[in-house]
Amino acid sequence: MAINNQEFKNALKLWASGVSVVTANSSKGEQGMTATSFASVSMDPPQILVCLNETAETGAAILESKKFAVNILTAAQEQVSNQFAGGSSMEERFANTAWYEGELGQPVFENCLASLECTVVQQVKAGTHWVIIGEIQSSQCNEGEPLLYFNSAYRTVAS
Ligand SMILES: Cc1cc2nc3c(=O)[nH]c(=O)nc-3n(C[C@H](O)[C@H](O)[C@H](O)COP(=O)(O)O)c2cc1C
Repeated sequence: MAINNQEFKNALKLWASGVSVVTANSSKGEQGMTATSFASVSMDPPQILVCLNETAETGAAILESKKFAVNILTAAQEQVSNQFAGGSSMEERFANTAWYEGELGQPVFENCLASLECTVVQQVKAGTHWVIIGEIQSSQCNEGEPLLYFNSAYRTVAS
């Protein structure tokens, strides 16, 4: 028998990760949401994945446009993470964040640690989430320290 929701949360919050904001540009304009479910998939071809709730507007935008960007946040971007995790409109989220249109036309954050612009190569429905696999077409890297998430709280790397 499978574990219940509480057991799932208790265990999965113990997985430490970086924090990203996944963005897309669709017919509804710029969309973006905070996501820790980012993972490297393949180096050749260069592929990554994100898992997005089926109810998330950004997921719907990606399934429509077949393009997206992953913006990996710095330790100074906790507020950006909170803003893109809900409670404010898409207009507010993007008005309060410095960004530009990348090579694929996706919103790329100016001050993040790294940005990856991707085309969708596979989308798999798994329970409540879409597993979206993207091929990286363009990348930007900057100096800085990462924002981390562990045990339901933001963390930073110890020196
Ligand atoms: C640290 C953090 C990590 C999150 N990671 C994910 C994720 O990987 N996948 C997901 O579907 N939602 C994730 N969420 C929740 C979404 O960011 C949030 O539900 C979304 O922005 C709200 O949906 P909306 O953009 O449609 O308003 C995360 C939230 C936080 C605070």
